Amino acid sequence: MIIAIDGPAGSGKSSVAKMVARRLCFQHIDTGAMYRAVAWKGQRLGIDLGDADRVAELAENLAIELIPGAEGQKILVDGQEVTSQLKSEAVGMGAALVASQSRVREILVAKQREIGKNGGVVMDGRDIGTVVFPDADKKFYLDADPRERGRRRYEELKLSHPEVDLESIIQQVRERDFEDKNREVSPLRQAADAIRVDTTHLGIEGVVEEIMREVQAQS
Ligand code: C5P
Repeated sequence: MIIAIDGPAGSGKSSVAKMVARRLCFQHIDTGAMYRAVAWKGQRLGIDLGDADRVAELAENLAIELIPGAEGQKILVDGQEVTSQLKSEAVGMGAALVASQSRVREILVAKQREIGKNGGVVMDGRDIGTVVFPDADKKFYLDADPRERGRRRYEELKLSHPEVDLESIIQQVRERDFEDKNREVSPLRQAADAIRVDTTHLGIEGVVEEIMREVQAQS
């Protein structure tokens, strides 16, 4: 079984996907981390993230490992653990830029299909139900009011980046929404057969319960 969970930044999809995967003993794949890994490495190497040829070459040769663990997924890029470094909004904005490039998407989508091909996965991102696994068994689209999504990002980021400011995070979330929804390749949109869950006033547990009900109704 493949469960696809898509939605904008701060909609809760990664936290929810992680918990659903744990309950089902499935593997959780956070595809946003893969775009972030490309952006992070590019920034480290001083590569212009707008240079699609260089970014594609980087993505092609990058070793991205997603390692499940009790405290969540760890991300290794070329053998280096970068889990908390990938969370910054600067890396998020870089990820949105590289994610607008079709060759990078082809490379990462191929990796995602390879990881998920045997099923038993909960994969979250922006295009899982529309492009990566259009035949996924269950598809969910999580959304929430942008201010609430910004507030969640702020609460999460402040732990590792105490200097962050709420209003600028809300603004960055809105900018990233705009980039993700308006890009030419695989823009963020809800798949026609996805179940929409508005998480503005629902806690993570509530969303997980709703998803589990749908998944169990199917099996
Ligand atoms: O979900 P997260 O905030 O980590 O994603 C970072 C960026 O990566 C998103 O803003 C989006 O541009 C891109 N992304 C994507 N397709 C995915 C996952 C993430 O385009 N499946």
